[in-house]
Amino acid sequence: MPRIAYVRGRYIPHADAGIHIEDRGFQFADSVYEVVALVNGRLCDEVGHLDRLERSLGELRITMPMPRRSMELALRELVRRNRIKNGMVYMQVTRGIAPRDFLFPKKTDTTLVMTLYPAKYDIAARKAAVKKVITVPDIRWKRRDIKTTALIGQVLAKQAAADKGAYEAWMVDDDGFVTEGSSSNAWIIDKNRNLITRATSNNSILKGVTRSALQALCRKEKIRIVERKFTVAEAYKAQEAFCSSAVALIAPVVQIDGRKIGTGDAGEITCKLLDLYMEYATKTGGTQERWNPA
Ligand code: PDD
Repeated sequence: MPRIAYVRGRYIPHADAGIHIEDRGFQFADSVYEVVALVNGRLCDEVGHLDRLERSLGELRITMPMPRRSMELALRELVRRNRIKNGMVYMQVTRGIAPRDFLFPKKTDTTLVMTLYPAKYDIAARKAAVKKVITVPDIRWKRRDIKTTALIGQVLAKQAAADKGAYEAWMVDDDGFVTEGSSSNAWIIDKNRNLITRATSNNSILKGVTRSALQALCRKEKIRIVERKFTVAEAYKAQEAFCSSAVALIAPVVQIDGRKIGTGDAGEITCKLLDLYMEYATKTGGTQERWNPA
């Protein structure tokens, strides 16, 4: 089966999928994106991802490429044409194609592209694949609440991590507090079994859809979450740590800047959350929580 991509209204073979050189996504990173896990044929937390896509577009005054219902149908058609049950959907919306000018073009159609990559969701393998993290200064712009494709800060952070044999870079603000990972939210668990993750106020981090789903699960399971900032020094002393995102789902962290976290294996609460999350993802396509920016 050839892979099929969606490009500005057409389903075409992935190898032939291209975009015009004057697309503003290419020239200005004038665009936003979403990544949605496809688990067991279901688009995981689709509602939340589409809510956030609409909100990111609204903040940048880019119009939705099509009504929401049509987008849901296009997503399903992409999945159907690719005949994949487990994978990762990437969707990107740009302000469109126009001669290069910083000002918004007066009249152009927004660009929507979507691709689907195969992925595996083996829970035992994910628990075993424990991760190392490094910390780096957070050098990004201030509107981290918008999921734009202006990702060079994150690209540099992730590369710095890879150069040191680590999976993720946790970015640190000017006051020494962790903001988030280069492509995930950062979590620690303290000795009182509190889950700690940075609050989304002040737009200092992206409000992860997986993060919101985890909050909903924790409310149900009576697991305590504390939304507050934490320093790098506090992270070094954590009992457990993990990253959350549509790609990582819940990735256990066992080393931060070379310091061992917990026992060196995936932590007990981290594993429980991964089990719970995968159960929802597999059976119901996630929690289907609405996502709101507040
Ligand atoms: N990244 N923070 C940042 C900076 C991110 O880029 C992401 C996701 C998240 C987690 O968001 P969510 O749970 O909604 O995936 C947090 C995607 C997966 C990526 O860039 O590939």
